[in-house]
Amino acid sequence: MADALKVGIAGLGTVGASLVKIITARTDELAVTCGRAIEITAVSARDRSRDRGVDLSNIAWFDCPETMAAEADIDVFVELIGGAEGAASKAVSTALSRGLHVVTANKALLARHGVELSVIAEEKGVLLNFEAAVAGGIPVIKALRESLTGNKVSRVYGIMNGTCNYILTRMEKEGLTFEECLKEAQRLGYAEADPTFDIEGNDTAHKLAILTTLAFGTKIAADEIYLEGISNISIQDIEAAADLGYRIKLLGVAQKTETGIEQRVHPTMVPRDSVIAQVDGVTNAVAIESDILGELLMVGPGAGGDATASAVLGDIADIAKSRPGEQRVPVLGTPAKALAPYVRARMRSHEGGYFIRLTVADRTGVFASVASRMAENNISLESIVQRANPSVQTSDSKTIILVTHATTEESVRNAVSAIKAESYLVGEPQVIRIERPKAF
Ligand code: HSE
Repeated sequence: MADALKVGIAGLGTVGASLVKIITARTDELAVTCGRAIEITAVSARDRSRDRGVDLSNIAWFDCPETMAAEADIDVFVELIGGAEGAASKAVSTALSRGLHVVTANKALLARHGVELSVIAEEKGVLLNFEAAVAGGIPVIKALRESLTGNKVSRVYGIMNGTCNYILTRMEKEGLTFEECLKEAQRLGYAEADPTFDIEGNDTAHKLAILTTLAFGTKIAADEIYLEGISNISIQDIEAAADLGYRIKLLGVAQKTETGIEQRVHPTMVPRDSVIAQVDGVTNAVAIESDILGELLMVGPGAGGDATASAVLGDIADIAKSRPGEQRVPVLGTPAKALAPYVRARMRSHEGGYFIRLTVADRTGVFASVASRMAENNISLESIVQRANPSVQTSDSKTIILVTHATTEESVRNAVSAIKAESYLVGEPQVIRIERPKAF
């Protein structure tokens, strides 16, 4: 049997501790599957004294991850620290420059520095694997990077943040408040260190930027994403969506259009009978539409220690099974130096259906005025209803809910601005885009 693959793990939080436990418990099986043993020879974390429920006594300890990357007796540097800059970024660059393989779950780092890190890995002939960075345990990186080679992708979209999906599901099914659900997601280890990254959509945006590059062969463009989080979604929206036959999910969508590639992250209404609408809790789902295969939908655990550690372990096993110097596939699917520039499609040109919820003064003519502002902007309506909702309205206001046929973002923004200029509007209008899966 070949020499053991020596692994150093930087970051011993929820995922790191799970990974140590799994590798330790499955040493013999992994050695058989990979054709060589996988041995943890070094670890690095902030607090040495913390009890993580794992035995680290025979493993070299490093207080500083960069020092571990530079000096430890390892073949693979596993980065589970997180964050786009600072310790994670320095340690990964150091490891790659030293000719070590790297496995990372760090979507923020890849979204920001993925291309430059891939250039180093490709020059050094080492692997930079990051399956765990997108959609937790779902093997979407491998699917896009390897299995769909030769396909022309037209759209990739999905539920990629377990925390948001967990919050939306529990709000809908159990009537809990946003804050209660978020607290629970934090307790279960789903949320980011700063949970605003989850709920404001940044985490999904980082993951989407990576998928866009793999799907379309363009440079990573994390700053070119239209971004809206879920903090503005009320129980009233969730109930209205249900009445109309939809559910609300935070989706990341990358789509090829005539003018470029649209990248957007926003709360989205999806038809209730679609598969993605039924993906609940911390579960993630990613759909890929391409010309040869058609639509592929992958559903699975999107966050949490074991799900993420499973993907990290798969990446480590890939390295254990590879021959020295072998790079079967480029890090980002296309060689990093051959990635095309990203061309952004304007959000204003986005086409689709829209849900618009307005709270208005209960006066004669308001309904007609709203319908006129829509017609003036060439928006065709699928439905328009006025409803009373005593729990959220004062006696002299009413809710009007519109669902449009396919139109443009530009038309909707213009119509909403025109309505805002009228005197009857109470509070901010709510606008939620509708996304229709093709096959499922
Ligand atoms: N905070 C992330 C989530 C963790 O909730 O999905 C997995 O990337």
